[in-house]
Amino acid sequence: MHHFDRIDGALHAEGVPLEAIADAVGTPVYVYSTATLTRHYGLLREAVDAHRTSLGDALIAFAVKANSNLSVLATLARLGCGADTVSEGEIRRALAAGVPASRIIFSGVGKTDAELAFAIEAGVRQINVESAVELDRLIAVAAAKGAAPEIAIRVNPKIGAGGHAKITTGGATDKFGVPAEEAPALYARAAASPHVTPVGLACHIGSQITTLEPLEAAFRALREMTLALRADGLTVSRLDLGGGLGVPYHGQADLPSIADYVAMTARVLDGLEVEAAFEPGRLLAANAGVLLSRVIQVNARSDGRTFLVLDAGMNDLMRPALYDAFHDVVPVRERDGEAGAYDLVGPICESTDVFARDRRLAALEAGDLVAFMGAGAYGAVLSSEYNSRALVPEVLVDGERWAVVRGRPSYEEMWAREPKADWLG
Ligand code: LLP
Repeated sequence: MHHFDRIDGALHAEGVPLEAIADAVGTPVYVYSTATLTRHYGLLREAVDAHRTSLGDALIAFAVKANSNLSVLATLARLGCGADTVSEGEIRRALAAGVPASRIIFSGVGKTDAELAFAIEAGVRQINVESAVELDRLIAVAAAKGAAPEIAIRVNPKIGAGGHAKITTGGATDKFGVPAEEAPALYARAAASPHVTPVGLACHIGSQITTLEPLEAAFRALREMTLALRADGLTVSRLDLGGGLGVPYHGQADLPSIADYVAMTARVLDGLEVEAAFEPGRLLAANAGVLLSRVIQVNARSDGRTFLVLDAGMNDLMRPALYDAFHDVVPVRERDGEAGAYDLVGPICESTDVFARDRRLAALEAGDLVAFMGAGAYGAVLSSEYNSRALVPEVLVDGERWAVVRGRPSYEEMWAREPKADWLG
């Protein structure tokens, strides 16, 4: 569910007409809805709290990679949401947005020594260790500081899942996590070190997962491992279940609900007496954002193909080019003209700069506005200045009010970041 609805034929973000934002800020521009972020977080929080006996005082840590805008993070932080981070930059963003260190998890396959040291100094809640070699480095970094940070071992359960091969993370050949058969020995090794404090296990098997079965199988594997570690006298008090639950980009009605998903986790963790953590990214943010774009021209070719050339390109929204991802595209002003089949393309000089082929839409003209729905997760964060296009701006709406929360840089600002080599005069 989201809060982008039509009022008198014009698409609004909550109480604000998208046309007004496009006119004031220009296009392309991302627009986020506070009410949608709040609703999604609230639904998950409520479901998790209803299963307190199985999930403990569970942490919901938003995966910052999905949408790292400071105002989006601050919106979630005010609700009590934590942050799942994968770099020093993301930890700094979360802290700057008001997420307390005690709610920040630090994950990632390639944390540098400097980043590990930074995370220890910041006092993050937990560092998720993804390999034996990383554990050795963390022990050395922590020893030099006289610290003993709390860690979880991220297990690769060899159960990959997700909406596309390129967003699967739990498969046997994926780079993420410690192979399940090696994890118990690594956990014991960590427990024997005075420089780290193993508190639990973690997993994240993929993204845009649309059935509960693979998630349940992975969580069961964590449960079994918890019991085995405890049988060896080790303490396991937290299970980090990752993110990954899919959202209905195609309007699918048969996706597992948040309540079903949480009920499943509660069933699997029942009686373990652990504190659970969830790391949703897409689930909280995807439907809380749209990308607004204007039609530059309609290129109806004599071969019958009609290209709707938009002012948003793959540099602004990478998902279709990277993962063949589907985003619903709707005219901002309701149109009753004849529907046509369009190839929706951007202006970038790349053949992959295609958002959709043969998409049926109402007849559109140059200057019309369209909205890419479900663009709040992995949208602006993946944007670039490719083809020397200014980085796409972002707007946050809250009821009737709205604010530019990342401005579009001027060309002067772009060039100012590139000081000329002194010998070039
Ligand atoms: N936790 C960890 C350790 C992760 O690696 C990820 C995502 C998440 C949580 C959040 O997963 P989510 O709930 O959003 O599925 N750029 C791709 C998605 C890549 C996901 C990578 N990891 C896309 O646009 O579909």
